Amino acid sequence: MRLSVAIDGPAGAGKSTIAKLLAKRFNLMYINTGAMYRAVTLKAIKEDISPEDKENLLKLIDKMEMHFENDDLILNGENISEEIYLPFISNNVSNYAAIPEVREKLVALQRKMAEKYNVVMDGRDIGTVVLKEASFKFFLTASAEERARRRCDELCSKGISVNHKEILNEIIKRDYIDSHRKINPLTKAKDAIEIDSSYLTIEEVVDKMSGYITKGGSSNLAK
Ligand code: DC
Repeated sequence: MRLSVAIDGPAGAGKSTIAKLLAKRFNLMYINTGAMYRAVTLKAIKEDISPEDKENLLKLIDKMEMHFENDDLILNGENISEEIYLPFISNNVSNYAAIPEVREKLVALQRKMAEKYNVVMDGRDIGTVVLKEASFKFFLTASAEERARRRCDELCSKGISVNHKEILNEIIKRDYIDSHRKINPLTKAKDAIEIDSSYLTIEEVVDKMSGYITKGGSSNLAK
């Protein structure tokens, strides 16, 4: 049976940073499902397809070949990993990610990837929907204040000036949308291990998760 590690949690909890490090440590493919919803949003906006136009949206997804290479998302042969984090995508992605038919298609693709490779997959519905039988499930959280602080630090380090209060409000708003949408809302799977990263370093979180994976009998996969 393939090894699969599911990591769910709110925006800014550190899921992708942690997932990339776990992927290296256990030689797993990192599947960033948020990036896949962002890719659909990018393509749809470029082709002027609104979230209401489901028919064309689904046709569009059928023409999209997505795979991951070294943590990067490749769409129809093009590395789109940077473009999908532009503000116009961040501001629109939740409208496309809330469409049940879009989710159905992307969930099917994500499951196929997990059938083919040993994976670490992060998102909002991995442990609850996509990989209900995942070998390991983690729910990674951090306080909204801490997530806002990290986001501010990240933007400041890129020379972008930010207002902490505004960022905090954005995070609180996104948490609400992600956990209250009708289909596949962000919830902790009953059998997921919850880790609060508010007072932990990245290395401490990775070590904690690695401990569970190694104890669970997957030490033979470690590099
Ligand atoms: O993790 P992220 O910020 O890149 O996610 C982008 C958007 O996609 C965000 O609105 C949450 C949504 N998403 C989702 O609904 N389900 C997932 N499995 C992953 C992301």
